[in-house]
Amino acid sequence: MPHPLLEVDNLTIAFPHQTAVDGISFQINPGETLGLVGESGSGKSATSLAILRLLPPTANITGSIIFDGQPLLTLPEPAMRRHRGRSIAMIFQEPMTALNPVMPVGAQIAEALIAHNDGIHHPELSRRAIREKVLAAMHEVALPEPERRLHDYPHQFSGGQRQRILIAMAIINRPRLLIADEPTTALDVTVQAQILALLNDLRRTRGLSMLFISHDLAVVSQVADRVAVMQHGHIVEQAPTHQLFHSPQHPYTRKLLASAPTMQTDRTQPLATLA
Ligand SMILES: Nc1ncnc2c1ncn2[C@@H]1O[C@H](COP(=O)(O)OP(=O)(O)OP(=O)(O)O)[C@@H](O)[C@H]1O
Ligand SMILES: [Mg+2]
Repeated sequence: MPHPLLEVDNLTIAFPHQTAVDGISFQINPGETLGLVGESGSGKSATSLAILRLLPPTANITGSIIFDGQPLLTLPEPAMRRHRGRSIAMIFQEPMTALNPVMPVGAQIAEALIAHNDGIHHPELSRRAIREKVLAAMHEVALPEPERRLHDYPHQFSGGQRQRILIAMAIINRPRLLIADEPTTALDVTVQAQILALLNDLRRTRGLSMLFISHDLAVVSQVADRVAVMQHGHIVEQAPTHQLFHSPQHPYTRKLLASAPTMQTDRTQPLATLA
């Protein structure tokens, strides 16, 4: 057994008036994608923010989160800052709000590169080297005509292209773990499929591990090796994706399967997404 890249053990997140996450445990192995699925308010985003230690101080967090052998919850802030955006990167649901509307996208991708390089691991990068890395990242996420679009602003791109820009920013420092929180929810179905295909490509070419969060089990099934189902702060079921689909154990999982909006309902047929 390889040792897991991420080990979450008995994680509890309590806000002043409610417990958002109540003793969950899961692991992500190198190169593996874990899907975290559950209805709104079940604690998915709180979990991902706890991994990056981005929850507000009002959150009382207990349990342990171990990344590559290092306990994150007790790590001094400067060491945590070095993980954030570098070994662990994150992409969110709404690409427009995550981008700066008044800065050209090339500059924003460059900023993601520079902000997470402290000069120890990457000696001073020349302007030209930065430009080349930015163009390579834009190319890798299949943004058309990167040279020409470098100086364009976020509003000049489509929703799907903006999500590609955010993915470029997330991968430019070669993270080992990518946390994707509802990365395709704001996109229409065709564009969503393209972004999922891109994430699958990146996994394969980069051996990236991923925590993929969605309320949509059908979407999760297209990228996840295993799925953890969350309800009211608990993981009620955790299984390899095909097993979860073909023999769901928990009533809530069955309910999610039955109500998944983009899923075919004929269970006698194999699911297209699992081919
Ligand atoms: N900063 C906060 N302060 C207080 N309560 C919070 C905070 N963040 C989240 N919560 C609460 O914790 C619970 C879990 O929220 P979380 O954002 O993790 O849900 P989610 O599963 O990501 O939902 P969604 O699918 O809508 O994104 C919710 O009841 C929410 O109101
Ligand atoms: Mg959320």
